[in-house]
Amino acid sequence: MKVKKSLALGMAACMGMQLLCACSRQRTDKIEKVQMGVTCYDQSDTFISSVIDSLKEQLGQYQNEGVTATVTVMDAAGLQRTQNDQIEELISSGCNVLCVNLVDRTDPSEIIDLARKNNVPIIFFNREPVAEDMLQWSELYYVGAYAEQSGVLQGELAAEAIKADNGIDRNRDGKIQYVVLEGEPGHQDAIIRTETAVNTLKENGILLEKLSYGIANWSRAQAQNRMTQMIGQHGDKIELVLGNNDDMVLGAIDTYEKLNFTKASWPVFFGIDGTDVGLEAVLDGRLAGTVYNDKEGQAGAMVKLAVALVIGEGMDEIEFEDDRYIYLPYRKVTSGNAGEFLAE
Ligand code: BGC
Ligand code: CA
Repeated sequence: MKVKKSLALGMAACMGMQLLCACSRQRTDKIEKVQMGVTCYDQSDTFISSVIDSLKEQLGQYQNEGVTATVTVMDAAGLQRTQNDQIEELISSGCNVLCVNLVDRTDPSEIIDLARKNNVPIIFFNREPVAEDMLQWSELYYVGAYAEQSGVLQGELAAEAIKADNGIDRNRDGKIQYVVLEGEPGHQDAIIRTETAVNTLKENGILLEKLSYGIANWSRAQAQNRMTQMIGQHGDKIELVLGNNDDMVLGAIDTYEKLNFTKASWPVFFGIDGTDVGLEAVLDGRLAGTVYNDKEGQAGAMVKLAVALVIGEGMDEIEFEDDRYIYLPYRKVTSGNAGEFLAE
């Protein structure tokens, strides 16, 4: 009972605050306190945790521009229900802008309703809601990257490597025997990356033979298991491993190392992300290449947009696609430039 009452009081106070915010947003005086609430689908995800680190760092830099900024980060640990509750908590604690990395990108309605009721804008990131859901309210934004481009660039990197080194076709049959490690089914980046990478290889004249694929849900540990199964089936016939992200190809490499395969019978590996561990693997030659998923660019766009939404200034400086979307481009990474990315 007591809990309920204080919650109700808290909510009332918070709604009061939101009203104040709404009013002052219409007036000309600036709200200088940005209170950002972030919730992510799983904070143990290597790429997501690095986006959040960069976001905290870049939000901190706004302090000296006369804006006070705080950020609260929550981990939904794979449960949409938990994430919905976190949104309620973040709003009650006074957050005036939300950054949401959905657990289930097809299920944002409850979150959108809560945000709309309290007039707190949402910036979705990395896990893109479907277009109809983005139309549920005018204060919804998305920051991410072009999924197709990442697959095209990965396919080009692999094609360039195969053309430059005929030793990759180890059995000299003129075809490249390959396997794919795929991210979560239903994620906008998983299927598209696979399809566009494979099509790009074909368009570049590479003959392919698909031996197998494994769904490893972006996870290094799951990829180790999938790779063990695929090696069990195909032994040393695998010449190329494409991964929808770096963590999964690193898991595949872990398996080759654990099974003591000689380097001469390793396939070549290509990832996507350019996480720190991925870049290091490119530099030490275990990973032939990766595609940079611009975490700093995405975090920077979120911070800029969040500040503009709260203080009501600077929106006209932001370039959107279809009014509410910001997509950052991917870039190719090889051993020649991986060091520069590591320094970013
Ligand atoms: C990244 C993956 C990450 C996933 C999480 C993708 O864009 O490439 O590394 O696990 O997003 O949603
Ligand atoms: Ca071959």
